[in-house]
Amino acid sequence: MQRVFLCVFGISLLRGIYHNPYATWNNSFCSYRRIIISVASIVLLSCSIHLFIEFIFFHRYIEHMSKNLTKYVCQSCGYVSPRWIGKCPNCSEWSTFVEEAARPLRASRKSGVASKIEPVSFDQIEKEDVPRIKTMLNEFDRVLGGGLVPGSLVLLGGDPGIGKSTLMMQLAIALNDKVILYVTGEESVRQIKLRAERLNAVSSKNILLLAETNLDLILDVIESGTPDLVIIDSIQTMFRPGLESAPGSVSQVRESAALLLRLAKTRGIPVFLVGHVTKEGVIAGPKVIEHMVDTVLQFEGEAHYAYRILRALKNRFGSTNEIGIFEMHDTGLREILNPSEIFLSERHYGTSGSTVVASIEGSRPILVEVQALVTPTNFGMPQRTCTGFDYRRLALLLAVLEKRVGMNLGQQDVFVNVAGGIRIDEPAVDLGIASSIASSLRDIPVDSSSVAVGEIGLGGEIRTIGQIEKRVHEAAKLGFKRIIVPLHNLKTLKPTGDIEIIGVDRIEKAIETLIG
Ligand code: TYD
Ligand code: MG
Repeated sequence: MQRVFLCVFGISLLRGIYHNPYATWNNSFCSYRRIIISVASIVLLSCSIHLFIEFIFFHRYIEHMSKNLTKYVCQSCGYVSPRWIGKCPNCSEWSTFVEEAARPLRASRKSGVASKIEPVSFDQIEKEDVPRIKTMLNEFDRVLGGGLVPGSLVLLGGDPGIGKSTLMMQLAIALNDKVILYVTGEESVRQIKLRAERLNAVSSKNILLLAETNLDLILDVIESGTPDLVIIDSIQTMFRPGLESAPGSVSQVRESAALLLRLAKTRGIPVFLVGHVTKEGVIAGPKVIEHMVDTVLQFEGEAHYAYRILRALKNRFGSTNEIGIFEMHDTGLREILNPSEIFLSERHYGTSGSTVVASIEGSRPILVEVQALVTPTNFGMPQRTCTGFDYRRLALLLAVLEKRVGMNLGQQDVFVNVAGGIRIDEPAVDLGIASSIASSLRDIPVDSSSVAVGEIGLGGEIRTIGQIEKRVHEAAKLGFKRIIVPLHNLKTLKPTGDIEIIGVDRIEKAIETLIG
């Protein structure tokens, strides 16, 4: 600013001297003027040079700054902001923004294109059967859609301690004719060996262990060897030294997953990424890489139950409806091939508030016991507690029972539980829950040889449900004598000799049939 001012001052001085009407070159002040003119010219010249140099350097400075700009990334959803904000406008989480270095995008749009590319029509594409690697764990293969696809990137998410590492180790042990590279960033190789010993796999020579978190080194190991399968446990511990952000941050997790994706696709090696699902702390959830991977598996279960359910949330090579059921023992996870028998094994006969329902999980019918306990409330506000079922759906069923059946539940505490620790969200279990509540309120047991299925509408009507044949077949297989189904479903249902099928259209009628 000062230099601009000096420059303007220099120009006006020169103008003033040259345009002065009284000044002539011959008068006595001539020498004085010459000195002033020379000084002004020097000031003007130096200022102009200075301005010119600053102009060039300023541009360089801006360029330099833009390269080193930092950004703030939400560790929950990956939303990017130029400044720190307390609440993420995208996922509404608080205090999730972490400062990360923004890297400039150097490659130009055309630089990556090596040759001319052309689209292809469907006819030009040769049909190719996707080869599958059978993992020997039937439940695992079922969820993957029939086995592991070479070159696929699979993300296995789940709460910490649910058994992800155990499942991966069992997978490695089961694939004993393949070379498995198990990369651990969380445990030492000694700990992994201890786990393998628990799983009775001490002599497994096909499993190569690597306790490392530097992804560049890990990729070198993979490139130099020929593993048939790579397991990365967990993706949140991996880091690339070139990136400034901490391991577990959104940038590191994304970059690591992108590199492993490239490896899987170019070398045709299936890669498993283990990821913790946690909302606390700065560790980025696996949500941010869900779009990159081919398959997203979720391992879930209640902390106090031994049952674990493996679910496919996304699968490019199969259905997402399938589930795999496991049970955690002291010697690892055991597959449950007949879930209905397991879930009904602890049933108490002759107790009120218990109904067996037939739910569909994936393509499989599962018979589960739903329990209800209705007791007079001791406090002003009646309690409603629900485990394994939607709380709002329970409130709706209670309202229907009050209004349509005339049950007085306003002064009663209601507890509902799906036995075995599994969660059922399909509306076909509505009838079972309503009959358990009615049974507990009246203290009359539900007929123990009956199964009830049906969705309850707000008017008290029993609505049609899907896959009724499978449910009836499963109930008959397990020795049940009667099944209560929605009346409209009877039209499509062929009669079977083994089980009596009763169609009902109203909730009152269904309760009467089940409780008497
Ligand atoms: P782990 O696989 O380490 O969980 P994650 O990798 O998901 O954090 O194991 C979790 C729990 O499982 C641990 O608390 C101990 C238990 N467990 C068993 O009950 N039996 C077993 O055979 C093993 C290996 C683990
Ligand atoms: Mg683990």
